[in-house]
Amino acid sequence: MPAEDTLSRIARDVAVCAKCVLSESRKKPVAGDGPADAEIMFIGEGPGFHENEQGHPFVGASGKFLDQLLAQAGLTRDEVFIANVVKCRPPGNRDPLPDELAACNTHLEAQIEAVNPSIIVTLGRFSMNKFFPGAKISAVHGQMGRVGERYVIPMFHPAAALHQPALKPSILGDFAQLPGQLQEARKALGKPEIFFRRNVEEAANEKPKQLNLF
Ligand code: URA
Ligand code: SF4
Repeated sequence: MPAEDTLSRIARDVAVCAKCVLSESRKKPVAGDGPADAEIMFIGEGPGFHENEQGHPFVGASGKFLDQLLAQAGLTRDEVFIANVVKCRPPGNRDPLPDELAACNTHLEAQIEAVNPSIIVTLGRFSMNKFFPGAKISAVHGQMGRVGERYVIPMFHPAAALHQPALKPSILGDFAQLPGQLQEARKALGKPEIFFRRNVEEAANEKPKQLNLF
């Protein structure tokens, strides 16, 4: 099955999922957004107020900050996949509970398998713990570790950096390293070392415009 179709199927499963109690209080489930061939996948924590209203990840204040961080890495939203460890909003934005993380992990694993990203960036401690149990985010943030067929880079959660200004330089620095780490990951995984797709498309789009001038 093409990856796009698998992702649609996962989104449909999430839309009707009742595998944990979060299904009872959610308004809109938030499966995740992004292209099926994204090279980088971001995994956050769970929907907050605005995400629960709109059904899309990172659309509130931390989403605005995430957009700035992506720009710092020369990336835009339409070239990355963004998901969360739980797809339904924990009431009052409480932490997701172990049984909820376990129940929702099936959806996340299916997304990772479908997208098959070279790099997963974990945002915050819940998604970090999935790959590096017991790691301390203050010690390992920004460091790329190999996990099976891909690389995982833990980073602070954008909301944490918004609330603790001291973390802002760290998260900005970590995002600035991302383009170089992507090249490194591509090389190690035997994937072509291309520039970001957007640059390639821009270059392709520029030519006809220039030709029209003459
Ligand atoms: N915080 C998250 O972790 N995920 C979202 O989708 C929004 C805010
Ligand atoms: Fe299902 Fe995940 Fe929502 Fe729980 S949080 S109901 S496991 S989609």
